[in-house]
Amino acid sequence: MKNYDLVVIGSGPGGYVCAIRASQLGIKTALIEKYKSLGGTCLNVGCIPSKALLDSSHHYHDVVHNISSHGINVEGAISLDFKKMIDRKNNVVSQTVKGIDFLMNKNNIDVYNGFASFVDDHLINIENDTNQRIKFDKCVIATGSKPATLPFINIDKEKIITSTEALSLNEIPKSLTIIGAGVIGLELGQVYNRLGSEVNVIEYSDKITPFMDNDVSKELLKIFKKEKINFYLSSKVFDVKSNDSNVIVKAENKSGEILEFVSDYCLVSVGRKPYTENLCLNSVGVDTDKSGRIIIDRQFKTTNNNIFAIGDVVNGPMLAHKAEEEGIAVAEILKNHKPHIDYNLIPNVIYTWPEVSSVGKTEQELIEEKINYKKGNFPMRALGRSRASNDLSGFVKILADKKTDEILGVHIIGARAADLITEAVTAMEFKASCEDIAMMSHPHPTYSEALKEAALDALENRPLHI
Ligand code: FAD
Ligand code: NAI
Repeated sequence: MKNYDLVVIGSGPGGYVCAIRASQLGIKTALIEKYKSLGGTCLNVGCIPSKALLDSSHHYHDVVHNISSHGINVEGAISLDFKKMIDRKNNVVSQTVKGIDFLMNKNNIDVYNGFASFVDDHLINIENDTNQRIKFDKCVIATGSKPATLPFINIDKEKIITSTEALSLNEIPKSLTIIGAGVIGLELGQVYNRLGSEVNVIEYSDKITPFMDNDVSKELLKIFKKEKINFYLSSKVFDVKSNDSNVIVKAENKSGEILEFVSDYCLVSVGRKPYTENLCLNSVGVDTDKSGRIIIDRQFKTTNNNIFAIGDVVNGPMLAHKAEEEGIAVAEILKNHKPHIDYNLIPNVIYTWPEVSSVGKTEQELIEEKINYKKGNFPMRALGRSRASNDLSGFVKILADKKTDEILGVHIIGARAADLITEAVTAMEFKASCEDIAMMSHPHPTYSEALKEAALDALENRPLHI
């Protein structure tokens, strides 16, 4: 029987990155994945395929709606080959996944294909054609998450679907009802709206993306409404049924009215839940909390001294880059390093267009925590770069400590906001002030100038270009 210093269960961004870092540190490592394809949710049915479809649908939408404003006339009817769009997405996924196979090979990581479960404190069973067993000194559980649902919904994967099926449909729905205006609901809602579906989004909360800063949520809602995505906020879904031809979703709004939505498909995107099914955690004394997340200490150690857990299966934001940081950290801890993750500085991004990004505190959190703050705002439309590209919507909002000027939160909505947020993360990592950002030279013309202008606004209410 093979014996490893470290066995990692799950090959998502948490697991495979952990395995690479461990191997770099000289730890003899094995990785177990139940699917043939490595990369987990992120590469196979999450980050990568959703971004591929967001990009493709964005191009289509631009050609249909925006390209003529640049003086480009596309003659005749513009047609859409949805099958080709999905095939391209599948190719992007398979190329990315192949990259992980290469990395496992390069780092001498033994990969086992099969379903892992614990036998005892040092033994794992791998269920596959040959039913193998391997021994470990330490183990990292990185088994990720699965879509959550509501108790009265039967996800049939045909008409009542999760993000996984929504990323691989055979047809563009004429109509799509989405339950939940969180990240998945908005990203995939925009994809299908751009492709011509009638999209209705039902949200329990009184705002979209409830975790985001209120100003950003409001601006994004305004933009989506202009694009004719319909939102039903403060509405509680209580019944979802499908028949041969469609899905009927019923919800009650805050005035007590019953709303009924009849559509081709219903996408259920009400969050994700940790995945620990059949791992036999009980046999090794690994405890979970009420929501099913594995309980860990600050060193990622579970209630079993030899077993650690990271990524979506533990507490914290369910994000690929958070899982990666934890994967690196746990490998380094095993080698007695002292890594540190600042969870306040893990950025959030929504890859709609305009993009949305944020890091640090929202204004509502600062108010709740009774922190004295000041704020600066700058609209994207005032930038030369935005006019040149005709991407005028959005703004940068900076929140800073009123007394010390230290930046406490940055919230961006606009073109390339996903990439712009890294400047804010860097600044906050080094405890920069608004004055620091305001004094730095930002290349002209770029969207990043909005950060400098918002910092000037927060600093002394003296932006230059408005
Ligand atoms: P996962 O990626 O879920 O990987 C866990 C792996 O463990 C899986 O491959 C699973 O098969 C395997 N596994 C589970 N149990 C066993 C077992 N017993 N034996 C063997 N293998 C097992 N995050 C971002 O940061 N940016 C994005 O743009 C983004 N987009 C997303 C879009 C969608 C549609 C979805 C659904 C998610 C998105 N996410 C995004 C979230 C991101 O995918 C997750 O946060 C991330 O994948 C978590 O990584 P992980 O390693 O913890 O788990
Ligand atoms: P989410 O937590 O982002 O949003 C779920 C939404 O559903 C919330 O707005 C919630 O209020 C609403 N909701 C819950 N119950 C409801 C009900 N009964 N009726 C109506 N609305 C209801 O979850 P989502 O969108 O499913 O995404 C899951 C996870 O995947 C997220 O936590 C996110 O971290 C990750 N993800 C990240 C992406 C990114 O980083 N760009 C992209 C996609 C997913």
